[in-house]
Amino acid sequence: MEIVIVPDATAQGELAAGAIADLVGRKPDALIGVATGSTPLPVYQALQRRKAEGLDLDRARICQLDEYVGLPAGHPESYREVVRREVLDRLGISDDRFMGPDGSAEDVVRACADYERTLAEAGGVDLQLLGIGTDGHIGFNEPISSFGSRTRVKTLTRQTRVDNARFFDSLDDVPQHVLTQGIGTIMEARHLILLATGESKAEAVALAVEGPLAAIVPASVLQLHPHATVILDEAAAGQL
Ligand code: GLP
Repeated sequence: MEIVIVPDATAQGELAAGAIADLVGRKPDALIGVATGSTPLPVYQALQRRKAEGLDLDRARICQLDEYVGLPAGHPESYREVVRREVLDRLGISDDRFMGPDGSAEDVVRACADYERTLAEAGGVDLQLLGIGTDGHIGFNEPISSFGSRTRVKTLTRQTRVDNARFFDSLDDVPQHVLTQGIGTIMEARHLILLATGESKAEAVALAVEGPLAAIVPASVLQLHPHATVILDEAAAGQL
């Protein structure tokens, strides 16, 4: 695992965008897994700047990490809409180069299996961006998720619902259930880049990077990945 400590979120965004630009240079149709939440936004802004300067993303493909269950199609906080706004629209990537799990499906169990198949048929994820929850989750794999898990339905912890309530009118509006790529699914991506900023993530980062491998800290699984990069600002690195 490579740990890089940078001064701020802008530098973090530039570094991760640089890795994506290098990948697309080598493999124009790379499948790039994006994450939601606030942390990766500077990456998408940096990519938008690079595109304006000539980065060719005309064949790049984007896939989603996770999704809320039960939000109606088109809900502004569904991750499909967030990815559309923050990634696809910014980078001029059309719907036919985007894949994600369907959280509004009637049969969500089937939607999970469908998404696993879609990712496999697409050739697997080349680079997956990850944030980290304050409880150490990646995607929506909450503590004690199996390291071998595949895309499935999960129940959110209260902590994660409280953390994500800022995107909704109230805590009650945050869905209880989600679909998430499993930890086993995430681990198949060829390169993982985990981003964390701020003091609120410092404990989870220290446990993930320096603690024992433990299902109670899902992000600790990155210690087993052959190509994992962790990019932190000073505050998130504060307990290393
Ligand atoms: C959500 C997402 C995660 C993300 C986490 C942290 O729970 N499912 O993928 O990493 O939030 O978000 P933030 O970057 O806003 O702290």
